[in-house]
Amino acid sequence: MPIQWFPGHMHSTKKAIAERMPDIDVVIEMLDARVPGSSANPLLAELTAGKPALKLLNKQDLADPEWTSAWLAHYNGLPGTRAIALDASGAPGAARQLVAACRELAPLRGGMVKPLRVMICGIPNVGKSTLINTLVGQRMAKTGDEPGITKDEQKIALASDCYLFDTPGMMWPRITVEQSGYLLAASGSIGRNAYDEEEVALELLAHARLRYADRLQVRYKLGDLHGATGETLLADIARKRGGLLGGGRLNLQKAGEITLTDFRSGAWGRITLETPAEFAAWCSEGQTREAARVARKAALLASGKPRPQRGGEA
Ligand code: G4P
Repeated sequence: MPIQWFPGHMHSTKKAIAERMPDIDVVIEMLDARVPGSSANPLLAELTAGKPALKLLNKQDLADPEWTSAWLAHYNGLPGTRAIALDASGAPGAARQLVAACRELAPLRGGMVKPLRVMICGIPNVGKSTLINTLVGQRMAKTGDEPGITKDEQKIALASDCYLFDTPGMMWPRITVEQSGYLLAASGSIGRNAYDEEEVALELLAHARLRYADRLQVRYKLGDLHGATGETLLADIARKRGGLLGGGRLNLQKAGEITLTDFRSGAWGRITLETPAEFAAWCSEGQTREAARVARKAALLASGKPRPQRGGEA
């Protein structure tokens, strides 16, 4: 079943971003370098349309360098967009890099009269607090309580003429790309209660197998993976690591937990779960599915029949 969630505070965060936007020169969006496309918030794209954008591909230390380069090239090829890969926890020189990229994107801003105003956004768990702590720890002043700064935002001086506005992590209301739901759950951006670990592990293994079968083979001491699927891999991991339940049944739940923990901690090595071309194809499938869903809903409303209960078709 596709993953959906019910984020709290989304409305107030959306409002805060929309209200701040007219004052903003550059929007930084933090992405997870293992799933750059899936971790980009489509709602943010709507709210910030037309603003110069800096994409920060964070957790690059966990992502496959070859595909990080491909994603950077993809974003750097978009109009008004720059991209940098980063490890927020270390990030030496992060502030300098960020400020330089933002100045390039908004060359007419800067100096005391027209300071550069930058907003940073990202989905939960993408590493925004870590980066801000690194930045603040480096030398930045956190400007704290100040008129015009809402309780939902922070303003940080990155340079004497460059301010960073922080916003709370924001998910979007509805996921239309099914694969993204699973990959975001696998990477840790979705609350534990919104998904089933076994199901997410199955999807994760099915994706990881495409480019990293050799890593899985080494990690779990598996045989030939030719023709393996998410299901066969999870069963193999259960056999090797998950233990058995009563009656000799495989403990797939435990195997799912091991799979997710190993992926998140980097125990499989550096992995990227989607390429720009794959993500573009998923988006196009998602749009087709979403258009069909909206059409069904409109037809149902027009027919005057009662709407199905939640859990049935929406
Ligand atoms: P958020 O504010 O965007 O919600 O994310 P936060 O900074 O809290 O980071 C979420 C987790 O990701 C943290 O792990 C953090 O250490 C880790 N993290 C952030 N940036 C990087 C990075 O560049 N590389 C790696 N490897 N990890 C990074 P945590 O405190 O252990 O939390 P959790 O993983 O148990 O949720």
